[in-house]
Amino acid sequence: MAASRRSLQQVREIITSAHEDCTPAQKLQFYDRWAQEYEEDVSVLEYNAPRLVAAVLASRCISNRESKLVLDVACGTGLVAQELLRCGFRLFHGLDGSARMLEMAETKKLYQELKQCMLGQGPLPSTSDFYDVVIIVGALSDGQVPVSVIHELLRVTKPGGLLCLTTRSNTSNLQYKAELEHELAALQSSGLCDCITIQNIEKWEKATSEQEVQGESDYISGVIYLYKKMETIS
Ligand SMILES: C[S@@+](CC[C@H](N)C(=O)[O-])C[C@H]1O[C@@H](n2cnc3c(N)ncnc32)[C@H](O)[C@@H]1O
Repeated sequence: MAASRRSLQQVREIITSAHEDCTPAQKLQFYDRWAQEYEEDVSVLEYNAPRLVAAVLASRCISNRESKLVLDVACGTGLVAQELLRCGFRLFHGLDGSARMLEMAETKKLYQELKQCMLGQGPLPSTSDFYDVVIIVGALSDGQVPVSVIHELLRVTKPGGLLCLTTRSNTSNLQYKAELEHELAALQSSGLCDCITIQNIEKWEKATSEQEVQGESDYISGVIYLYKKMETIS
């Protein structure tokens, strides 16, 4: 990542504007405007989620990583595929609602397929039981992608494949996090998936507002969830 030209305070102001009440379409317009500066700005926030998630996934997906087809949902500029590549994954498809973020991802030449789609509003443009790994990083949070999307994420995962999700644990996202965990528990008790690991990460990224600061720390925490889709019993 290149060094940023913006200060932490400036980045905070940009992100605060994104969290103002807006429609999903307006949120995507925000990402369109942010796409060029996104990577520089998140480096100021010390946003390490793509690297941390890639490490968790790699630790549970030991063999033949180069032949695993990964669907990177809400792929943004492609930071997740970049980190997964370092861990030996090679095959990536990406989805995102923002055309400009997808253009940035395209320049990395890592994805064999990139599609624009609004998440949480109907089916994903993907075949059922198709991907070895489905991953969504930095997009499951209040005001972004609705929790209901996880049914679609599971649909397109191969039986026996992995589903990797993240969310944040800052105060304003706690209700969303509880809904996400409730939904994951329901899927697990229906026998559709099984939890492999849940990892709490203390320093997810720097807090983007005073209200988000937790105790003495300037950072907010986050969570990585790794699930396996159950094999269907014939
Ligand atoms: C914080 S970025 C994360 C990008 C990337 N996964 C990363 O970790 O760097 C969130 C991404 O989610 C996308 N996004 C947010 N809400 C969306 C929605 N409802 N439908 C489709 N994409 C959405 C944005 O366009 C943006 O690229």
